[in-house]
Amino acid sequence: MLAYALAQYGMMMDDPVRMGAFSRALRQVVTSDCVVLDIGTGAGIFAFLACQYGARHVYAIEPNSAIEVAKRLAAANGLSDRITFIQQMSTQVTLPEPAHVIISDLRGIVPWFEQHIPTIVDARQRLMVPGGVLIPQRDTMWAAVVEAPELYHRMVRGWSDQAYRLDMDIARRIVTSCMGNGRVQPDQLLTAPQLVATLDYATVEDPNVEVMLQWAAVRTGTAYGVSVWFERTLADGITVSHAPDAPPDQLPPLIIGNAFLPWSAPLTLAAGDTIAFTLQGTLDGDYIWSWTTKVYDQGKPDAVKAQFAQSTVFGQPVSLDLLQKQSEDHVPELNEEGQILQAILSMMDGETELETIAQQVAEAFPQRFADWEEAMKLVAHVSGQYSE
Ligand SMILES: C[S@@+](CC[C@H](N)C(=O)[O-])C[C@H]1O[C@@H](n2cnc3c(N)ncnc32)[C@H](O)[C@@H]1O
Repeated sequence: MLAYALAQYGMMMDDPVRMGAFSRALRQVVTSDCVVLDIGTGAGIFAFLACQYGARHVYAIEPNSAIEVAKRLAAANGLSDRITFIQQMSTQVTLPEPAHVIISDLRGIVPWFEQHIPTIVDARQRLMVPGGVLIPQRDTMWAAVVEAPELYHRMVRGWSDQAYRLDMDIARRIVTSCMGNGRVQPDQLLTAPQLVATLDYATVEDPNVEVMLQWAAVRTGTAYGVSVWFERTLADGITVSHAPDAPPDQLPPLIIGNAFLPWSAPLTLAAGDTIAFTLQGTLDGDYIWSWTTKVYDQGKPDAVKAQFAQSTVFGQPVSLDLLQKQSEDHVPELNEEGQILQAILSMMDGETELETIAQQVAEAFPQRFADWEEAMKLVAHVSGQYSE
């Protein structure tokens, strides 16, 4: 999971559009007898606001150690007795009482991000009263073909440089298989926006997405790919839009931007050309994104101008050695790091102090550790991860 630094939580709080909308939504739904669950509390901001708006009690859950700062901030603001902080993933937590309101902001540049949707489904089923309120209520995603040379060149820069007369195509294909991040202006749209999907958090079950879109180019221009943005409804009448034409003072700063799906190569479109596009996002540990594009000359079904098939599967340099080690028929044997880890874990028996473990590990692996103090760094790390 993406691990934010404290400064990044500060940047999120410093976004007046996002914070203003979440704050208004909380104020609208929180009542004095209300129990609020803040999933992914970070440094605690939504939990503190929920208290200010009168929540009877707040459960604030966060695996990141920023929760320690949240606890100290709660104490500094006299809120400790109204907030229960739990350092864990919400899916691992049971609460003493269900929440009336669940607030979270777990998306990335698209809402299909990490465990966002399974987390909401789980919380809705296990941690919320029937008919409870979810903030946000829903996200609506839109997409358009865009003339975005700056977003494209930001991704391929370096790999299209012919200055050294080297063939960089392999690397270029890898970087254009990644999802980019950036915003476009309304005059960069080459097609009208199409609705991708609406995610209603009160009912969503499926973490995956698969859509087919079709556009007609409204003007001539060079297409670099597809921009995907969303509009969110936090509570009745409270929305935040990331659309290209959203009023500039209502656009959240680009801490979390919009998705950009680059094409394999830029393509000149004439007005009337049609674009058939499929987008598939599959949650498999993390999301795998695949997108296909077929461009028809002036919409003629037999006049294909270009076609691309791209996937984030090809967006990572792959080591054949690693693939082999991860294949189902591989018979693994521990390497030295594995043996050290195994030794440390086997001594974490509820009786042995870390210093003793470090001494024994240093003695057993003298080629790896100069002394027990050096081994202690790893032992402390493992203890932090895996001890009760
Ligand atoms: C975008 S940050 C928002 C932080 C804070 N709520 C704010 O608005 O400033 C999302 C946070 O959710 C946390 N998170 C993601 N999934 C979670 C889950 N299932 N349970 C608890 N926290 C989660 C992440 O660690 C991250 O700190």
